[in-house]
Amino acid sequence: MKIFVYPGSFDPITNGHLDIIERGASLCDKLIVAVLQNSAKKSSTTKDQRVDMIQKCVNHIPNVEVKTFDGLTVDFAKQNGATTILRGLRAVTDFEYELQMAFLNRQMNEQIDTCFLMASQRYSFLSSSLIRDIASYHGKIDDFVPKCIIEDVYRIYDKTGGNI
Ligand code: PNS
Repeated sequence: MKIFVYPGSFDPITNGHLDIIERGASLCDKLIVAVLQNSAKKSSTTKDQRVDMIQKCVNHIPNVEVKTFDGLTVDFAKQNGATTILRGLRAVTDFEYELQMAFLNRQMNEQIDTCFLMASQRYSFLSSSLIRDIASYHGKIDDFVPKCIIEDVYRIYDKTGGNI
């Protein structure tokens, strides 16, 4: 059974993430979306809020599971029988960081490889941090996150309480 792990902060999941999940899931038997519990990036969300949003977005993909993890991605991959870490690349600016992680992960466990998928062009400008920023001012996010979580995103990140 070919198992991929797609690790990330997903704070929140974006249309770009969902695109990588859908395409990645078609390349393996099982894709585990692995939500990092204690990201170094400061977050006001709980892991449960992030997991719930992802779960709503992936319900239509039968071979996708959502889990949380703490610790090293390679260890989580091994514990879950995965041989491949999946990551999305949006632009050259992502490349250096992703290359560094891929090399270090392979150094730590050479049984586990990293597979990169290029983000679809229409999502190449998306990032969770910018979506958090836009949502915090109740800006329009319809094109950036899946429709089923728009209300959740405003509820979690909107600082205006909808009063603008
Ligand atoms: O969505 P992000 O925040 O860009 O994802 C980064 C993530 C979660 C993939 C990375 O921080 C990670 O793998 N963290 C787990 C700890 C780890 O394995 N660190 C060593 C990476 S070489």
